[in-house]
Amino acid sequence: MSVSYSAIGWNRAKKAYDKVIVTGLLVYLAFFIGVSLLAHPDATIETLLIRALATAAFLMLHVILSIGPLCRLNPSFLPLLYNRRHLGVTMFLTALAHAVFAIVQFHAQGNENPLVSLLTTGTGFQTLGAAALVIFFLMAATSHDFWLANLGPRVWKTLHMGVYFAYALIVMHVALGALHSEAHPVLAIATGAGMAWLFTLHVVAALRERAGDRDDELIDDGWIDAGPVVDISEGRARIVSAGERIAVFRYDGKISAVSNVCRHQYGPLGEGRVIDGCITCPWHGYQYLPGNGRSPAPFTEKVATYDVRVVGGRAYVHSKANAPGTPVKPAHA
Ligand code: HEM
Ligand code: FES
Repeated sequence: MSVSYSAIGWNRAKKAYDKVIVTGLLVYLAFFIGVSLLAHPDATIETLLIRALATAAFLMLHVILSIGPLCRLNPSFLPLLYNRRHLGVTMFLTALAHAVFAIVQFHAQGNENPLVSLLTTGTGFQTLGAAALVIFFLMAATSHDFWLANLGPRVWKTLHMGVYFAYALIVMHVALGALHSEAHPVLAIATGAGMAWLFTLHVVAALRERAGDRDDELIDDGWIDAGPVVDISEGRARIVSAGERIAVFRYDGKISAVSNVCRHQYGPLGEGRVIDGCITCPWHGYQYLPGNGRSPAPFTEKVATYDVRVVGGRAYVHSKANAPGTPVKPAHA
């Protein structure tokens, strides 16, 4: 695996995820339209579709925003993160379908160009939805690793953090639009509950991470005590912190330390495992050799390495990072 572009590999797990996403979406749309028809038998199919697609996309957005913190709290959610890109693209297409139906319904009946009408008729809440849709489009269009490689991880990550701004735009879109006209409180309650859920989840995950981030004690001359070697499971790491997070791996009777930050999308390498002799990122499987922090050929990514030593059964790591890809002699575990 590498940050350089390589054609997408469709494996069985990805296909299974995609089937679950598409089936879940279709079941939700049918359920929403069925229940709405029972409550409002005279509602038009256009209105029902606009609302079903809108709430489906909004729900998917909540799932997408929950995956990151859930993975920080419990690694068993990692398979969801691996496939988040497809969920994001499906969410964009669903939101796009909602927007197209809404534009046709509310802006295509007159003589004016529907897009001009959308931006000028004073329904400000729809402009907020349109702005969010542009952000989702940019994210979906650049979601492939081809763009990650061309934009660079920092620009790419910053662009994709725009999802939080888009979420805020959608909350305002709903609050100023549908909630204004909606007599039934279910949408207001669901939107409030969604905000509370996302806020709590992000705060809990951040607090958990911060607790693990308290700088470990410098013993002397910049060395940090990473604890007894036997406490690190074979093929796993202990993460220590010295401003930067460092992953101290034990494998094949050796100890090596590298930066905890994967070059792909900044995943936590110290939560990964050594597989086939390589540190393997838990997020999307990028690999690095423990002894020099370099991805095995033909890949070219490099992470910083750290000097290590073992004294009296305890592992120590030096807090000063070596340049990415610098070979460091492993210590005997
Ligand atoms: C050009 C872009 C967009 C336009 C013109 C637009 C238009 C509309 C309109 C007219 C409504 C009111 C429907 C009603 O009250 O029956 C609405 C509601 C809504 N929109 Fe959008 N929208 C756009 C983008 C988005 C996007 C990107 C999302 C993302 C998820 C979204 C989510 C929602 C939600 C959750 C509702 C409330 C649904 C409900 O009434 O049950 N919209 N939108
Ligand atoms: S492989 Fe994607 S973040 Fe590490």
